[in-house]
Amino acid sequence: MISTPYDHIADRFSALRTTLFPKEREYLALLLESLAERSTVLDLGCGTGNPIAVHIASRGHRIVGVDGSEAMLAIARKQLPEHRWIHDLMEHVEFDEVFDAVVCWDSLFHLPRQQYQPVISKIHRWLVPGGRLMVSSGGLVDDSGCGFTDTMFDHEFFYDSLPPDLMVSMMEETGFNILLAEMCDQPDGGRNKGKWATVTSKKV
Ligand SMILES: C[S@@+](CC[C@H](N)C(=O)[O-])C[C@H]1O[C@@H](n2cnc3c(N)ncnc32)[C@H](O)[C@@H]1O
Repeated sequence: MISTPYDHIADRFSALRTTLFPKEREYLALLLESLAERSTVLDLGCGTGNPIAVHIASRGHRIVGVDGSEAMLAIARKQLPEHRWIHDLMEHVEFDEVFDAVVCWDSLFHLPRQQYQPVISKIHRWLVPGGRLMVSSGGLVDDSGCGFTDTMFDHEFFYDSLPPDLMVSMMEETGFNILLAEMCDQPDGGRNKGKWATVTSKKV
């Protein structure tokens, strides 16, 4: 059975994750700026759909959301019933259609770093030429190579990431032009290891 620990915390997560941060607004503007109306946007690890898919849908685009948590998707389906919501893991899901843009925000960092390139490679295959991708990954990455766990609402979550410089070079080697790459959340020296944002376009 497909699941993620978010199944246990969906309502509590949903109550907290309600509005876009200013940086997320900026990245979404870059992601969406060249899209024609009613473009199709894939949201990998879409969660409840709020606030990212809700924002994209409000700009007139169609969402295809993929998430490993049925409880998170149930909220997304209720909020945006006219869009497509798929219960699957991003490392397993396959499409034989193409997308005009892809978001993979605050979700890739739940995968082991070895799975980053295969997922980014699939996204590259699914994007139209010139199509844009907005993705977040970890900021401060130790060299143990095996990630770490932390708790949220008393449940344990796995996190891992490629270091920012490898994230950028991996994406360039996969066939993306880097439009923006920066630390959007600084590590605090404690539990918060920061967050790296990348917005790219598929090379034409
Ligand atoms: C922190 S939430 C982010 C949700 C949304 N992208 C946002 O920005 O609010 C992480 C989401 O990724 C999903 N997720 C974690 N691992 C996943 C995987 N391997 N495949 C698909 N979804 C996954 C979780 O179920 C959860 O809904």
